[in-house]
Amino acid sequence: MSPLWIGTSWKMTKTLAEGRAWAEGLRDHLASTHDGQAPARVQPFVIPPFTATTTVRGILGEDSPVLLGVQNAHWEDEGAWTGEVSVPQAKDAGAQVVEIGHSERREHFGETVETTQLKVAAALRHGLTPLLCIGESAEVKDAGGSSEFILAQAAGALDGLSPEELSRVVIAYEPIWAIGEKGRPAVVEELVEPFAALGAQYSGEVTGLLYGGSVNLDNAADLLGIEHVTGLFVGRTAWRLEGYLELLRIAAAHAAA
Ligand code: 13P
Repeated sequence: MSPLWIGTSWKMTKTLAEGRAWAEGLRDHLASTHDGQAPARVQPFVIPPFTATTTVRGILGEDSPVLLGVQNAHWEDEGAWTGEVSVPQAKDAGAQVVEIGHSERREHFGETVETTQLKVAAALRHGLTPLLCIGESAEVKDAGGSSEFILAQAAGALDGLSPEELSRVVIAYEPIWAIGEKGRPAVVEELVEPFAALGAQYSGEVTGLLYGGSVNLDNAADLLGIEHVTGLFVGRTAWRLEGYLELLRIAAAHAAA
């Protein structure tokens, strides 16, 4: 069985001191409980804001079992793109994963299917793992179009990749209606069909199919039980280190069952 990917994006939260405390706590926890390794069949990952990338890399160390990501990266390698960070720059700062197409970026920062495609290609070109986020709005869901919508988002970003390139991609399904303070936690039954659709298309073809959106300590085990789900992508619950460590325990128990 491939590992369960369990990770968090800090979004636009945490000072350097707060990020340092979280990363040191995780490093020390893994050192004391798992001899510095990840729990068996669990792939931890953390995606801080750019300001904390090198700091978190330094704390975790080069050989950490915890993958480090960035929340966005430009598709060009360098140039006159004020305010942007490129994939080579992210890699230089220690990142191994590039989050692409989160709904907050699609909604507020003009991310489109076209830009997600360019960014996936850039990440792959430089040997980083693209973490492609897809998800439909409440309106699309209410109209019964969830699966069709997310398959189109995924296809738009991934079409044309070779099987080898596709095998390095992680997809996170994050329905917009389930994300953040304004979201409501999804119930398992609502996710079965979208994951069946994603699984039919991508299971075994990509590195992982993650679920994200109001994951908490009460629903994590049930979400991991949905067919084709191979991990969780978590915001608020994991911003407290204790919450994240508990999610790692839940995943480890699930992987061992
Ligand atoms: P929440 O877990 O806070 O709903 O955020 C999910 C998310 O957007 C992860 O990318």
